[in-house]
Amino acid sequence: MRETIIIDTDPGQDDAVALLLAFASRDRLDLRALTTVAGNVPVAQTTANALRIRELARAETPVHRGAESPLLFPLETAEFVCGPDGLAGADLPPPQGEPAPGHAVEAIIALCRAAPDDSVTLCPLGPLSNLALAFRLAPDILPKVKRIVSMGGALGLGNMTPAAEFNIYVDPHAAAIVYGCGRPIVMMGLGVTHQALASHEQVAAIGALGTATGKAIHGMLTRPRPGGLGTAGHPMHDPCVIAFLLWPELFEGRDCFVEVETSDGSQRGRTTIDWNGRLKRPANAHVVAGVQAHELFERMTQRLATLA
Ligand code: RIB
Ligand code: CA
Repeated sequence: MRETIIIDTDPGQDDAVALLLAFASRDRLDLRALTTVAGNVPVAQTTANALRIRELARAETPVHRGAESPLLFPLETAEFVCGPDGLAGADLPPPQGEPAPGHAVEAIIALCRAAPDDSVTLCPLGPLSNLALAFRLAPDILPKVKRIVSMGGALGLGNMTPAAEFNIYVDPHAAAIVYGCGRPIVMMGLGVTHQALASHEQVAAIGALGTATGKAIHGMLTRPRPGGLGTAGHPMHDPCVIAFLLWPELFEGRDCFVEVETSDGSQRGRTTIDWNGRLKRPANAHVVAGVQAHELFERMTQRLATLA
């Protein structure tokens, strides 16, 4: 039985690899829609990038454009990491196709309303603005959500500030709504994604696939990374979300209470994770803390090889 998923995304190079892995996993994943959000770059560009990646994968999945900004704070983007168009190194042409009609939030609501209870997995790879808006506009969809597998947060140091990971930092109010929604959450934070660094050899193996997909990924993952991000190689943040759906056995973690800091100070966007259960609060997330990174890359490369 394939898992029904919606990927909410702000491409970004690591989003691109995650999307390509999902497109290469049609046997396991029924990808109903890509919904875009402002994050790495503004939403017009994340939408164009989602279309560019869809065309690279020769897929037909509808792309719905979403939130232009966080719920309350002004948008902060990350061109300093991903380049001016968000996909530096990919060398992909402008998109031929257009987004599907309907805002991303409306698409998430419509797809969930049409689905059975506990059947739709939401995979947010960017700020949680679209999910928060959907849950507030249509709380009736919550029982339809099987689980939320989210890239965001940090067990330790952040990457946007010492306290916060980028996706949560950009829209902490949205993250607080999602982490309070009551549905099962799998939190894929920096504590684990920084263990999944693309090594030179692994990136070379992807480039050696000799396909347009391999070439684009190789180009994205060999471009130099700015200093001060806390890692030497390109962490496969977002691909860890899709890999978790495909190979949960490669990951380990524990159920914890997680709280999001929404104040606009030095702790903005911090995910306080009660790893040792000190606060006696009910767990609201399965916090992933470990991954078998080598095996993840081996399996991911095998799947990516099936794309042109
Ligand atoms: O902090 C890393 C996350 O922020 C990744 O999802 C990256 O694509 C950006 O969205
Ligand atoms: Ca992302």
